[in-house]
Amino acid sequence: MPTLTQAETATVIAMAARAPSLHNTQPWQFRVSGDVIELRADPDRMLRHLDKHGRELMISCGAALFGLRLGYRSLGLLPVTELLPDPAEPWLVGRVWPGGRAAMNKAEAELVAAVPHRHTHRGPFAPGEVAGRLLAALADDAAAEGAELLLVDQADAEAGIAEAALADQLVGLVDAAAAEQRSDPDIVAELRRWVRPPGSRARDGVPAWAIGQPPGEPVPGSAGRPLWLPQRDFGQRGGDAPGGPGGDGPGGVAPSATAVLSTANDAPADWLRSGQALHRLSLRAAARWVFASLQSQPTESPRYRQDVRDLLGLSGHPQLLLQFGRSNTAPATPRRPQLELRTGDGGLRPLVCAHAG
Ligand SMILES: Cc1cc2nc3c(=O)[nH]c(=O)nc-3n(C[C@H](O)[C@H](O)[C@H](O)COP(=O)(O)O)c2cc1C
Repeated sequence: MPTLTQAETATVIAMAARAPSLHNTQPWQFRVSGDVIELRADPDRMLRHLDKHGRELMISCGAALFGLRLGYRSLGLLPVTELLPDPAEPWLVGRVWPGGRAAMNKAEAELVAAVPHRHTHRGPFAPGEVAGRLLAALADDAAAEGAELLLVDQADAEAGIAEAALADQLVGLVDAAAAEQRSDPDIVAELRRWVRPPGSRARDGVPAWAIGQPPGEPVPGSAGRPLWLPQRDFGQRGGDAPGGPGGDGPGGVAPSATAVLSTANDAPADWLRSGQALHRLSLRAAARWVFASLQSQPTESPRYRQDVRDLLGLSGHPQLLLQFGRSNTAPATPRRPQLELRTGDGGLRPLVCAHAG
């Protein structure tokens, strides 16, 4: 079996650690044992009020797991992955080790190259449509990871509902879910702990610059009337408004496509599949300078999650809503240093919890 050097191990973990995570909690720990890297969810970083069952914690860890696998591929190694290997250890998300050697193909190399600039987009997009064949490739990525990416305009929506009415109802569900969260003091307090003020040097949480102010009126994309989901306001504005700053600013356009990521079942393994799908398809998109805005508020409430399911006629379980568009910006949110992420592998510091702003 191939042996990883210290530098190669660090490369693999760094790729995993660039994964998206709910509120940039980065709720993961890595333990290196020979050539095996174990990924554990960190329950201290779970949002206990917003994410009571740890579903989004696991989606985040699934995203990191995809990063680990891709990290091995970047070294020309074929990863073998064991998902949830020990029922007695539910936080042990997976074990990955190299099973052999094979050079990366072009598509894999593109994913690796997209890791540094993949980011969650907020706000207006740059003009330009997202190619239908790219959207089809993103759906293939989701399917390859055991999830489904369904474009809203292809949904088998509630009988007889017109496209515009469906869009209005989806926006209404996001608004209602956001309002429900704003009225819950525990969720509001929890959110505050993860939003970082301007100038903060924190290596986790959502920086103020990534949220920003709402933009002016968005210009509709070329597809006519835009479906623009309100974005999570992170407690920064009075109400949720379209957009944020990370976007392409004045003159920017609405998203080109809206999709829902779902899974057939709704157990921890499915949440991990969703996360792997999310990271994989986000990187595929980023390789073409297409980025996703994520909206998970309606899926965080049992009631509105069911409404999303009914509205879009899903047979499975919605995990996350995504909107895609082009962008020329690539701001990178901070990440925790590896010293904090690695536990128990010979001399590295034990896990440090850094919730402070
Ligand atoms: C499960 C999950 C849910 C998320 N939900 C939202 C959301 O509702 N609104 C949002 O703006 N970003 C959402 N995000 C994106 C995170 O805020 C983002 O990944 C994190 O801040 C790190 O930033 P990056 O993706 O740019 O690296 C979500 C990410 C994950 C993994």
